[in-house]
Amino acid sequence: MASRHTSTDTALDGSTGQAVETLQPILRAENLRKTFYSGSHPITPVDGIDLEIERGEMIAIVGPSGAGKSTLLHLVAALDTPTSGEVYFAGNSLASLAEAELAKYRNRSVGFVWQRHHLLPDFTAAENVAMPLLMEGKAPGEALRTAEGWLEQVGLASRARQNAGALSGGEQQRVAIARALVNEPAILLADEPTGDLDERSAEEIFELFERLHRSHHLTSILATHNLALARRADRVLSLQRGKLTPGIETPARAAAGAARLADAESNILEDRR
Ligand SMILES: Nc1ncnc2c1ncn2[C@@H]1O[C@H](COP(=O)(O)OP(=O)(O)OP(=O)(O)O)[C@@H](O)[C@H]1O
Ligand SMILES: [Mg+2]
Repeated sequence: MASRHTSTDTALDGSTGQAVETLQPILRAENLRKTFYSGSHPITPVDGIDLEIERGEMIAIVGPSGAGKSTLLHLVAALDTPTSGEVYFAGNSLASLAEAELAKYRNRSVGFVWQRHHLLPDFTAAENVAMPLLMEGKAPGEALRTAEGWLEQVGLASRARQNAGALSGGEQQRVAIARALVNEPAILLADEPTGDLDERSAEEIFELFERLHRSHHLTSILATHNLALARRADRVLSLQRGKLTPGIETPARAAAGAARLADAESNILEDRR
């Protein structure tokens, strides 16, 4: 994995939809704005947001209900288009991509996990996970084998042939995570992925996110109301009144800050000698 804060030059590979090594942030939003109309009354939950996310970062987005967390994630995933402003993936403006390239970005570059899993209840766990591969034209046998491998990674190998509707909420969310990652995206977006779960299942699902984030070198953005879980991200950003501001200090941040401080101190001492 490229170090989080250094990168080389990059482009969006047209054939795979993946970002190639990059010198720039993997994701960047520039003056991003989204206005909805409820009748003639405008609501602008995303109101001029600038954001840079480095490859490998795990970001938590917090904010009150209705603040615009889902709206922002949808803009980043190209599931919705901004009223103005731009989202860049690996230096490429999403607005500049042709429809086929945008479809590739949605299907291959980004994996999305919703608060409610949106699984097809009458299909097996493996069939649900295989769905994105089948939609891309992969042969069913190969797609199912790949899906079973992903179910193993999320700890559900033994439930692969079970209908999704018969699984518990936590298990269904694991299937949804496997489905989001089956195309090996660079970016994982999760919209309150633990919102419907009890405390223990929420903890287990968050641990799974952390493990997959590391082992697959993902860049992850999670919207959550759970501040205890949010603090475990590299950065917490708070969305309020349409603006994004640095949120609560995380242990990871504090440790990085302490290391920078120690570096600065030793440089000063060095200079004095
Ligand atoms: N398609 C839409 N049409 C009209 N208004 C919308 C639409 N989508 C979102 N909104 C409004 O935009 C605002 C932000 O909504 P959003 O769902 O992004 O908030 P949120 O932070 O995700 O909230 P929650 O924590 O409850 O999920 C809300 O006022 C919502 O009603
Ligand atoms: Mg939401």
